[in-house]
Amino acid sequence: MSYSTNFIISMVELSEQELTIIDPNVWEAIAGPKTTCIKSPWYDMLHPYVAMNSIRTKEGYAPRRKRWDEALGLTAIYVPDKVIRIQHYATQLLRHIKASGTHPVNVTTWYHHFAFDFVGELAFGQSFGLTDDPTTSTTTKELAEVPKLVSQGVGALRFFTPLPWIGQLTFSYAPYLPFVSRNWNKAMSWAAKTCDSRLARFAGQKENDIEVISGQGDAFSRFIRQAARDNDLLSLDRHALYGDAYVITVAGSHTTALTLTMISYELARNPELQKKLREEVVASGAVRPHPDGDMRSEALDVATIDKLPFLNGCINESLRLYPAVPTGGIKQTTDKSITVGDQVIPPQTVIVAPRWSIGRMESSFERANEFIPERWTTQPHLVKDARGLNGFGIGRHQCPGKQLGTTEIRMVLAMVVSNFSWTFTPDEKNPTSVADEYLDSYTARAGALNLIFTPLA
Ligand code: HEM
Repeated sequence: MSYSTNFIISMVELSEQELTIIDPNVWEAIAGPKTTCIKSPWYDMLHPYVAMNSIRTKEGYAPRRKRWDEALGLTAIYVPDKVIRIQHYATQLLRHIKASGTHPVNVTTWYHHFAFDFVGELAFGQSFGLTDDPTTSTTTKELAEVPKLVSQGVGALRFFTPLPWIGQLTFSYAPYLPFVSRNWNKAMSWAAKTCDSRLARFAGQKENDIEVISGQGDAFSRFIRQAARDNDLLSLDRHALYGDAYVITVAGSHTTALTLTMISYELARNPELQKKLREEVVASGAVRPHPDGDMRSEALDVATIDKLPFLNGCINESLRLYPAVPTGGIKQTTDKSITVGDQVIPPQTVIVAPRWSIGRMESSFERANEFIPERWTTQPHLVKDARGLNGFGIGRHQCPGKQLGTTEIRMVLAMVVSNFSWTFTPDEKNPTSVADEYLDSYTARAGALNLIFTPLA
């Protein structure tokens, strides 16, 4: 069987009714361990590719998800490697900030650069070179263009969320439509090309040699190696691999970049909070100066950083107010109804649960629209119903990159805040474009955020 057959079944499963539910009870009902819900037809949008997250049946999804959980390397062996890689790209980011002196840095762009370089290496063993020193970088123009291509591709999805089948028809039958199909199809072609060149390394080799040729330690190598060893042909289906290449690149970059941007924004609006975070990180001793340099960027004590309460409070507040996946995770009921609170939701109903709105409900959070990290530390009375925070999803589809993404954000933030203070530019005393231009296209993107960084003594 090829994964492409799923699409045909989905076409006849299209739901006639859709509900948007703004209620923290919704998560357990649509995604909790006992749910009978499945993913909505939105997930067929990648057709003819079938990424791990496009599989809508429980039975089809579980084995692919298990493989990806292994490949994303949450094993003990891989953890130190992960930390070194994050630290490397974050240090390049710090160098850029330092070199920009008194000129503004658009952090929306630069956190993207960091996140793409890291995910490129994590997934494919090759960074895109965006944070490299331009005088020594060996990246090619083609490679450096990929993140833009991938982002434009996912941007095209926003037009079709209410009627995903129109997206599928448009991508297939109007392939050159400017800004929509063309961007999407270019991004898909990149995913295919990347996987094909990866698989080409296997060509002509005996099965036993697979371990030798793919032994670089990136997520795709591990995934292919394990699937080949277990003769798991479904996971090695080209359409499956192409889909996974695309989804991991987007899901592993836009999310962390957006969260870093929005925290930096809130801490520029609230210098007192910025100071408080700095004091916590510096007092912990977790970020130490490099013996040869003046920046605190080496020998990070990640176990300590992981537990810093105020830092984690900042991350929670950003995920609550500016979710990286604002409405994504759309589910539907099957032939069974479900109950959300005391409401019965009929069979065959698509359910959208917007994180942005649920996270801002006054019934769950006092002063719900305010960024108050202390609600997760010293002021717990400001949280009335913690289920309103659902940054990574719950249940079997919850984000497989949760640990990794949180580690990235914690490390980068700890490194930036212990090296620099930052403010808005003098001509933009209270810019709001970063939040006003926040856009939902499965992952969210923010508007430009220009900040002036001042090195700390
Ligand atoms: C701040 C960081 C991140 C946030 C807030 C985030 C959030 C989410 C959310 C809300 C979902 C949807 C869950 C659902 O369907 O209910 C998701 C899915 C996913 N995330 Fe993340 N994510 C982050 C980082 C990452 C990273 C670093 C990776 C990989 C390297 C990743 C890979 C994925 C994948 C593959 C899925 C699809 C899971 C599925 O439906 O099968 N994410 N993420």
